[in-house]
Order: sequence, then C-alpha cells, then structure tokens
Amino acid sequence: MHKKLWQWHVLFLSLFCSSSLASSRSQDNLFNQAKNYEGSSDLVDLQYHMGPVLAGPVNLYIIWYGRWNRNHQATIRDFIYSLSYSSPYPSVSDWWRTVRLYTDQTGSNVTGNIVLSGEFYDYRYSHGRYLSRLAMQSIIKSAVTAHPRALPLNPHNGLYLVLTSGDVQVQDFCRAVCGFHYFTFPTIVGVTVPYAWVGYSGTQCPGMCAYPFAWPKYSGKPPPSTNGGNNIMRAPNGDPGVDGMISVLAHELAEVSSNPFINAWYAGDDPTSPTEIADLCLGVYGTGGGGGFVGKVNKDSWGDGYNVNGVKGRRFLVQWVWNPVKRRCFGPNAID
Ligand SMILES: *[C@@H]1O[C@H](CO)[C@@H](O)[C@H](O)[C@H]1NC(C)=O
Repeated sequence: MHKKLWQWHVLFLSLFCSSSLASSRSQDNLFNQAKNYEGSSDLVDLQYHMGPVLAGPVNLYIIWYGRWNRNHQATIRDFIYSLSYSSPYPSVSDWWRTVRLYTDQTGSNVTGNIVLSGEFYDYRYSHGRYLSRLAMQSIIKSAVTAHPRALPLNPHNGLYLVLTSGDVQVQDFCRAVCGFHYFTFPTIVGVTVPYAWVGYSGTQCPGMCAYPFAWPKYSGKPPPSTNGGNNIMRAPNGDPGVDGMISVLAHELAEVSSNPFINAWYAGDDPTSPTEIADLCLGVYGTGGGGGFVGKVNKDSWGDGYNVNGVKGRRFLVQWVWNPVKRRCFGPNAID
C-alpha cells in the first residue's frame, strides 16, 4: 500500500506540479525521477553546466496580471521580503541558505539579497485571459514600455515575476505546470533577462497546484501523514490558493536563481527538460517527506501547517530544495 501511494503521488506531482520550463514528462522520466524521493544521492546527477547564477543583488519586479485580492498580494509581498530579512528560526531566509550554496564558475554564490524593486498592475489583461507561455514575454514588454509608470527594464540584475489572477488561463497551467521560469528574448523584450510565472490556482485547480492545502477530487482520501491525522493542511495565511502559490513561487525562485539561463545547475542530459534543484524535492516539506508524505512540519494552534517563519509574524509552507553539500533534500526545519 505504501508503495502504491508513493507511486501515485509521484505521478500526480510530476504531472501536475512540475514547474520547470519543460512540459509534462515522459513515463520513463517520471519513474526515474521517482527514485529521487528516496533521497539516495547516487541517483541524482545534478551538474553544473558553466553558466551564471544570480549572484548579484537581485531587483525583483512583480507584474500583477488581472484582478488581484489585496490580501493575497500582501501575503506574496511579505514572502518576498522574508527572503532577505531575518525572522525567528527556521525562517524563509534560513530556507534560502540552501539555494545560496550554489555557485558559478567564478566561485560566486547565489545572492541572499532579493529586493522587491517595482510592481506593475496589468489589471486590464493587456494580452487577454488565455495566455501561451510565450505571451509572458509580451506581458513583460508591455510592462516595461507602459505610459506612465513603466517598470524599469533592468538587464543587469532584474528578475521579472508575472503573477496571473484566478480568471486567467495559461498554457499547460493546471495540466502540466503550476509555474515556470525562463528568460526573455531580445526580439520580444529587447534584452535577455530571467523571469518566472506563477498562476493563482485557488479557483482553477487547488487540488493540483495548492498541494498540500487541497487534493484532487478524484484521488479519494489523502494518505495519512507521518504526524498523525491526514495530510490536508490548513493554509497558514488563510487561503489555499495563495499559500499554495507561495511554495510554487519559492520553487521557481530557487530554480531561476541557480539556473537562470538554463545553462547552470540541473540534472539530466536534456536542457529542454531539465530537472532543477527544486524539482528534485517536489512534495517534500520536512523530515521523512516524499512518496506521498509531506514530512514533519509544524502546526500552529489553529491547525495551520507551516515550516518557516517570515516577516511580520507570518508563517509559510515551502517545499525543500536539493542541498549540494549534504546531497539530499533539505530545509531549516529538518530534525535530522
Ligand atoms: C557558497 O557556496 C559554497 C559551496 O556550496 C559554500 O561552501 C559556502 O558556504 C557558500 N557561501 C554562502 C555565503 O552561502
């Protein structure tokens, strides 16, 4: 039974929550990737491919695409602030320390300094409500050329984050991906700059992209957790869609920082389908996680699940990432 749940879970996560730029993975890949859950470092061929990482201080620009709830925006901003500010251990910035272990060929580490440097409100849905992956680049182009209040076009240390509201459909969203990252092309945006997209899944597919705050309807009951009770968690910031988005956002930020141009850190031979540092730890949030188990995380007195602290007393649940020194998935809430 254990095994079956494990396989089901790996299948489900790989199909629906995989967030690299790649599309859905082949069956072969699914089961190769499945082995990673056992945490055996021998099976993980994470390699450095000589390209840059985001080593300098990052200026992060958010493009809010569509109509956004102010509380949801505040939660997301506070998560971003929490990356660079210290909060009580285990904190979001402690979680980011694992990402900082990645270096480029000059010996520079991924930065610990991510500053929210601008926001743009595309509340008129400038490119409609059905977006292709490529449309993200046109959305960035519109934001950096808008009149007035354009976002700066910053090719030196800019990172653009396109966040789409719940009424926007995105190619592969809710089917193959919950978010992705890539880089812009000069022919569309004028420069090459890294970006990430994450969609609000609360209305379209919480069971797929807001795990473990929701489960797919067809899956029946969620498996039991290692802490007793079941694995459905209450969202620490009160909304499964936005709390689920935080973990996807964390995943994408970790990957875009360690592999911004898809030529730095990834496993596998195929750069069109790279397995990156967060892909290796999908579904793992605490010690003992993987194979359908979230792992050991905290629950506050309301029953909300979280594993890291943030600014303003906030709490978040973020998935772990691959630690290249320990050669296993790791987060600051680890108990071993
Ligand atoms: C930079 O990365 C190296 C190699 O992983 C690590 O030993 C070092 O502690 C890192 N520095 C910081 C500031 O994280």
